[in-house]
Amino acid sequence: MTSLELSNVRKSYGQTAVLDGVSLNMEPKEFVAFLGPSGSGKSTLLRIIAGLETLDEGEVRLEGRRIDTLPPGERGVAMVFQHYALYPHMSVRENMSFGLRNAGMPRDEIEARVVQAAGVLEIEPHLDKKPGQLSGGQRQRVAIGRAIVKQPRLFLLDEPLSNLDAALRMRTRVELAQLRRRADAAFIIVTHDQAEAMTLADRIVVMNDRRIQQIGAPMEVYSRPANVFVARFVGSPAMTLLPATLVPGGDAFARIRLGDGSEVDTRVPRDGLPADGPLQLGLRPESVRVAADGTAQAEVELVERLGERTLVYGRLADGAAITAEDEGNSRIRLGDKVGLRIDGTAAHIFGPDGAGHHAAAG
Ligand SMILES: Nc1ncnc2c1ncn2[C@@H]1O[C@H](COP(=O)(O)OP(=O)(O)OP(=O)(O)O)[C@@H](O)[C@H]1O
Ligand SMILES: [Mg+2]
Repeated sequence: MTSLELSNVRKSYGQTAVLDGVSLNMEPKEFVAFLGPSGSGKSTLLRIIAGLETLDEGEVRLEGRRIDTLPPGERGVAMVFQHYALYPHMSVRENMSFGLRNAGMPRDEIEARVVQAAGVLEIEPHLDKKPGQLSGGQRQRVAIGRAIVKQPRLFLLDEPLSNLDAALRMRTRVELAQLRRRADAAFIIVTHDQAEAMTLADRIVVMNDRRIQQIGAPMEVYSRPANVFVARFVGSPAMTLLPATLVPGGDAFARIRLGDGSEVDTRVPRDGLPADGPLQLGLRPESVRVAADGTAQAEVELVERLGERTLVYGRLADGAAITAEDEGNSRIRLGDKVGLRIDGTAAHIFGPDGAGHHAAAG
C-alpha cells in the first residue's frame, strides 16, 4: 500500500521549468517534510497535489486512485497555506465549518468535527470570536483546524508555523505531532526550519534546482548527504568543504591531502571513489576541534558563543574556510591563530560530479 504517489511530475511557467521530473512514494500515515531554498518549487508541488495548479506531465495518485484529473474538492486532501486567509467577517466556528457546509454535510456532524478539531488545537474558547480578535498563532491554528475538519487522507501544510514566534512555534509543533498521531492520514509539511523537519518528519525530501536532491530519514540526510548541495543545505552551521586530493596507495580507506599539505585519514572506502579529478573533504563542525597540538593551523575570523559550545570560524593557511568547535568557555578570540585537530572518522568525500561518499556503515 502506498499513500501519495508522484510519478515524473513536470511543471513550467512559460519558458521557466519549475519541476523537472519529480517522483515520490509515501507510506500510509507517513510524515514527509519538503526542505529547499526559496523558489525551489515546494509550494508549486503542493498546489499541484491539492489541485490548485495543473501539471504539464506526470501523475498524482492517492491510495492508488489517480487524483490529478479530479477537482480539488474530490481529491481527499486538505491544504494549509503559507499565507493563510481566514474570512474576517465569519466567526472561527464559521470559518472552520465553511467547506463542510458548502459540501452539504449535516449540521450536527459539522459541529462535532469542529468541536473535536478545536479541542486538538486548544482553540475552543475562541470558537465564537472573529479572526480579528485572535493572535497570529491562534489564527494559524484556525487555519489548521479548517483542514482537520475535512478529515483528509493527506494534509498539505505549506510553512504553517512560519508566522509564529519561537515559543508558539514549539507549542504548535507539538500539536502537529499529536495531530499526526491521532489522524489516520499522511502529511506533507513544507518548512525552512530544519529543526522542524528533523523533529516532525519520518523522511525529508530535499529539493533544489527543479528536482528532488535526496529523500531519506532525517539522520540519513544529515549523515549521508547524496551530494554537495544537500551537504551544505542540511545542518547548521553548514558543513565545511575543503579542496582535497587522494593520497595514493594505503589501506582500504581513503587518505586525503588538504590544500595546506596536511593529511587526514577517513573511513570512506577507497573503492568507489572517482579515479581522478578534484575532490572535496566534508567536515561537520563537531569533527574539527580546537587543539594546541592540532595538525592544521587556522586564523580565527569569527567566534560564536552558544553556551554549551563555541563555534570557531577560521581560515586555513591556503585560505580555505573551516568551521571548528571548542568548549563553551573557550578563550579564543578574533584574529587568534589556533591549531585544529581534524577527526576524519566521520568525514565525507565529494567527487568532481558533487556526489557524496561516506564512511562505511557500522
Ligand atoms: N503562478 C506563477 N507564475 C509564474 N511563475 C511562478 C508562479 N508560481 C511560482 N512561480 C515560480 O516558480 C518557482 C517556484 O515557486 P514556489 O512558490 O513553488 O517556490 P517555493 O519553493 O515554495 O519557495 P518559497 O520557499 O519562497 O515559498 C519560482 O521561481 C516562482 O517564481
Ligand atoms: Mg513556498
